[in-house]
This record gives sequence, structure tokens and C-alpha cells, in this order.
Amino acid sequence: MTTPHGVRAYCFVIVLVACILHHRVATQPPPAAGEAALLLEFKRAWGDPPALRAWSTATAASAAGAHCRWPLSSLTYLDISSNYIDGTFPVAVYSCRSLQYLDLSYNYIGGELPRDIGRGLGVNLSTLALGSNEFNGAIPKSLSRLRNLRHLDLHKNRLTGTIQAELGELPILEKLDLSHNPFNAGQLPVSFKNLTNLVSLEMENCSLVGDFPSYVVKMPGLEDLHLAHNSFTGTIPSEIWSLKKLQFLDVCANNLTGDVVVDGFAAMSLLTISAAENKLTGMIPEVFGRLSNLKLLILFNNNFSGEIPVNIGRLPSLMVLSLASNRLTGTLPSELGKHSVNLSAVSVGDNKLTGRIPKWLCAGGQLKYLFASRNRLNGSIPVSLANCGTLVELILDDNELSGEVPEALWTARELLGVLIRNNSFTGSLPAMMSNNLIVLDIGNNQFVGKIPTVAPGLTHFFAGNNHFSGEIPSQIGYGMPLLQRLNLANNKLSGNIG
Ligand SMILES: *[C@@H]1O[C@H](CO)[C@@H](O)[C@H](O)[C@H]1NC(C)=O
Ligand SMILES: *[C@@H]1O[C@H](CO)[C@@H](O)[C@H](O)[C@H]1NC(C)=O
Ligand SMILES: *[C@@H]1O[C@H](CO)[C@@H](O)[C@H](O)[C@H]1NC(C)=O
Ligand SMILES: *[C@@H]1O[C@H](CO)[C@@H](O)[C@H](O)[C@H]1NC(C)=O
Ligand SMILES: *[C@@H]1O[C@H](CO)[C@@H](O)[C@H](O)[C@H]1NC(C)=O
Ligand SMILES: *[C@@H]1O[C@H](CO)[C@@H](O)[C@H](O)[C@H]1NC(C)=O
Ligand SMILES: *[C@@H]1O[C@H](CO)[C@@H](O)[C@H](O)[C@H]1NC(C)=O
Ligand SMILES: *[C@@H]1O[C@H](CO)[C@@H](O)[C@H](O)[C@H]1NC(C)=O
Repeated sequence: MTTPHGVRAYCFVIVLVACILHHRVATQPPPAAGEAALLLEFKRAWGDPPALRAWSTATAASAAGAHCRWPLSSLTYLDISSNYIDGTFPVAVYSCRSLQYLDLSYNYIGGELPRDIGRGLGVNLSTLALGSNEFNGAIPKSLSRLRNLRHLDLHKNRLTGTIQAELGELPILEKLDLSHNPFNAGQLPVSFKNLTNLVSLEMENCSLVGDFPSYVVKMPGLEDLHLAHNSFTGTIPSEIWSLKKLQFLDVCANNLTGDVVVDGFAAMSLLTISAAENKLTGMIPEVFGRLSNLKLLILFNNNFSGEIPVNIGRLPSLMVLSLASNRLTGTLPSELGKHSVNLSAVSVGDNKLTGRIPKWLCAGGQLKYLFASRNRLNGSIPVSLANCGTLVELILDDNELSGEVPEALWTARELLGVLIRNNSFTGSLPAMMSNNLIVLDIGNNQFVGKIPTVAPGLTHFFAGNNHFSGEIPSQIGYGMPLLQRLNLANNKLSGNIG
């Protein structure tokens, strides 16, 4: 848990959040009116799931008899998402000619999608949500016949084959989500450039290759663009930064190259920029520092160079700044945290940063993670950081930091891990450490004084190459009952360890 790799999770956090948002609570209209036979056919096709137990022959028959005033051919809205329904696609639903909204997502429905699905479903269908099921085989071409389709969601199934060019013929499509399907490696169809009404394009983890689909810059309503975890090459088109409505841009884990060039910056709605794990070069664009809504700036594992724009330190909405593993130079913006009341994670390890740790990082009272390993930071740990009650992990190993570590740090209540090895820190540890601390690595420093006697949660304690003195506490096994690894080599300890 305390490895610097923890920050990689942010590339996935976005995925998670997206999934949670998709997983909206179903407002299920009761099957008030219906043809008994049709209801029972659905039920059989889905293997009599417990969720539909109420649809017994008797209730269905009585609904069809006494109370049935409309046949299901008037049904416009059917949402059976988030149940335990299995079986195959219920072609019985073809009888619902007026259907506008069909949501079967988050179930266990499998098999191939029927080839004639686009002819079978009513032409007024505007939402087809089949995400998070077990559908396999290819996307049926006939879907393009659903001329009124606005939302098509097939995410997280087992769809294979190539992505059908015919999908580009859906004239008013606004949301398309094909994420997380094991498609054959291939390019996005060129026909997608005709989907100019798109608001949301989610193509994460779809085995896509080829150049970044630059035609997205001609989709003026685009808010969400998710292309992460593919093999796109080429550069990010400079005009993308002129999309006024763009909120989420996630292109992480591709093979994108070149500088991030900004042309006519107008994307002031951006909430998330995630371009981590590519081969991007050049400077981090200065204009990112003007995005007053930006919460997540995720650029780790690239080849960015130059200094971090000073205004990034003044972004009012910033929550996560992840710039690790680049070639950044200069200092951390000195005001970082001062204006960002929700700043909770800063990850800048493996760069060439110099200068001090900004003293405002926890000014908003939200900072949980500071990862800055392997830079050339100097100066000391600010008292304000040691006093940060929300801090969970502090990772500053392999820098040129010095000075006395403020005592408050050792009793910070939320703190689970402190890795500050290989600096020039001085100071001493209290006899009793925080209950929650699990990993403490302070090796290769200049700590003095005695080894603590009580650290109830500590499993890893590395304090070699310091100036600790006195005896190793004879009760260490009681004071640190969870200890798995202990390194006290190269100190001035004495006594016996019986
Ligand atoms: C489809 O929508 C149109 C326009 O709203 C409507 O006139 C027509 O009756 C609908 N078709 C069906 C089968 O409900
Ligand atoms: C990509 O999708 C496959 C299923 O097609 C899934 O097993 C895998 O975990 C996904 N990878 C990522 C990075 O989400
Ligand atoms: C885009 O739409 C136009 C007009 O409908 C059509 O002529 C063209 O072939 C379409 N382009 C692609 C690549 O499908
Ligand atoms: C990027 O390209 C390299 C070399 O061409 C390849 O080995 C790697 O798998 C690619 N990565 C992705 C995410 O496509
Ligand atoms: C980063 O960029 C430098 C100079 O442009 C280049 O020499 C180096 O190979 C690049 N590193 C990676 C990992 O792409
Ligand atoms: C900070 O977070 C809170 C809670 O999520 C939110 O209500 C508030 O708008 C955020 N403030 C800023 C400046 O983004
Ligand atoms: C930190 O490093 C900078 C140069 O990178 C130097 O000017 C400054 O004096 C150093 N400060 C301390 C406290 O060592
Ligand atoms: C200690 O950190 C310095 C950078 O401050 C680095 O050059 C050196 O390799 C590190 N030493 C060890 C033993 O990790």
C-alpha cells in the first residue's frame, strides 16, 4: 500500500467513478399494463430470475384480464437494470413497437446480440443500454437502423470483431459507450467523424490503434472523451483545447507522442485532464493554470520537461496533481495548496525538482498523499505539513531534504506510511508512535536519540544508517507486536537483545 505506485490507481479511479455514475439507481416502472404472455416470455427467456418472481402466471393473467387496458405495444420505457437476470437478449421486446428507452444493463445477459436487433426494436428507440452484461460476438450492423438512437451503451461486455462503421450512421447519437470490450485490434471507423452530435464518447480499453481520432475536435458539444487504455499513436490535436464544453479528457495509457500544443484555448469547462502513461514531451501548457474548474491533472509517466507552470499552484478546484515520472525541473509552485481548498494528493516523484516543499499543501485541510521521491528537493519538512491531520502517506525518499523533522508528524492520527530514507534529516522519534503507523522508513539520515518503545501498528521499521543510540528496547516485541521487518544497522545501539 505504501509504494509510490499507489498513484497509478488514479488512472483507474476515473474509470471507477465513471462506472459508479453509470450505475444509476433504476427507477423501475411497475409492469402495470401488459400482455401476460409477453411478460412470461421475458421471464422464461431470462431463466426465471428472482427479481421477476412476482410475474407469476396468475398475476400476469389477471393483469392481462381484469386490469389490462393497454397492450405492451404501448410500452415506451423499460428499465430492468441492476438485477440478476441471465439468459439471452429478449427478442420478445420487439413487440413493444413504441419503446423509446430500454435499459438491461448490469445483469448477466449473454449470447450474441441478435443480428436483426436494429430492425426488431421500434424505430422510436432513443436509449439502448446493454452495458455490463455478458454479450459476445460482433456488434450487429443493423443497429444503424435505429435512426432515433441518442444513447448507445454496450460497455463491459465480451464483444469482439471490429467496431462497425455503420454506427457512424446514427444521425443524432449523443452518447456512445463501447468501453471495456475485447474487440479485435483496429482503428476507429472513419465514419465516426459524422457523429457530430456526440456529447460523450467512451472508448476506453477497446484495442484501438492508429492516430488519435482528430475529428473529435469537430464535435462542438463534446463533454466526455474517454480513450484511455488503447494503443493510439500520434499527437493530441491542438484544437481539442478549443472545445468549450469538454469536461473529461482521458487519454491515459496510450502511445501518444509529441508536445501538447494548445491552439485557441477555450476549454474552460475541463474538470479532468488525464494523459498519463504516454510519451508526451515538451512543457506542461501554461494555460492549464487557468482552468478554474480543474480537479484532476494526471500526467505521470510521460516525458514532460521544463518547469511546472506557477499558476497550477493557484487552481482553486484542484484535488489531485499527478506529475510523477517526467523530467520536470525547477521548483514546486510555492503557493501550491494555498488556493486549492480540496487538494488531497500531490505526486511528483521521479523528476528533477529542486527547492522547498511548499508550506501551503495542507492549507485546505484535505491533503492525504504527498509523493515526491527521487528529486532534488531541499529545505525541511514544513511544520504545517507535519501538523496535517488528514495526511495518510508521506513519501520523500532520495532527496536533499534536511532539518529536524517536526515532532507532530510522529503522532499524526491518519498517517499510515512515512518513507523519507536517504535525506539528511535530523531529530528524534518519540517513545510512543502513532497507533496507525504501519511503515516507517527513515534509513540513511541523521536521526539521534532512542528507538521508540511503542508503535502498535508498525510492520516495517527501517532506521539503518542513522545515529540512534542507547539500547534496543527489551520489550520491543510487546511494543511493536506486528513487526515483520526491522533494520537498525549502522547506528550506535548497544546492549543485548535477549
Ligand atoms: C414514434 O414517434 C412518433 C413521433 O413522436 C409517433 O408519431 C409514432 O406514433 C411513434 N411510433 C410508435 C410505434 O409509437
Ligand atoms: C480491458 O478489458 C478487459 C475485458 O475486455 C478486462 O479484462 C481488462 O481488465 C480491461 N483493462 C483495463 C485496463 O481496464
Ligand atoms: C458522412 O455523412 C455524409 C453525408 O451524410 C456521407 O456522404 C459520408 O459518406 C459520411 N462519411 C462517412 C465516412 O461515412
Ligand atoms: C507502445 O509502443 C510500444 C513500441 O512500439 C509497444 O511495445 C507498446 O506495447 C505500446 N503500448 C501501448 C499501450 O500500446
Ligand atoms: C524523452 O525526451 C528526450 C529528449 O527529447 C529523449 O532523449 C528521451 O529518449 C525521451 N525519453 C523517453 C522515455 O521517451
Ligand atoms: C471542495 O469540495 C466540496 C465537497 O466536495 C465541494 O462542495 C466544493 O465545491 C469544492 N470546492 C472547490 C473550490 O472546488
Ligand atoms: C536549495 O537548493 C537551491 C538550489 O537548487 C539553493 O539555492 C538553496 O540554497 C538550497 N537551500 C537549502 C536550504 O539548502
Ligand atoms: C540517495 O539520494 C540521492 C539523491 O538525493 C541519490 O543520488 C542516491 O543514489 C541515493 N542513494 C541511495 C543509496 O539510494
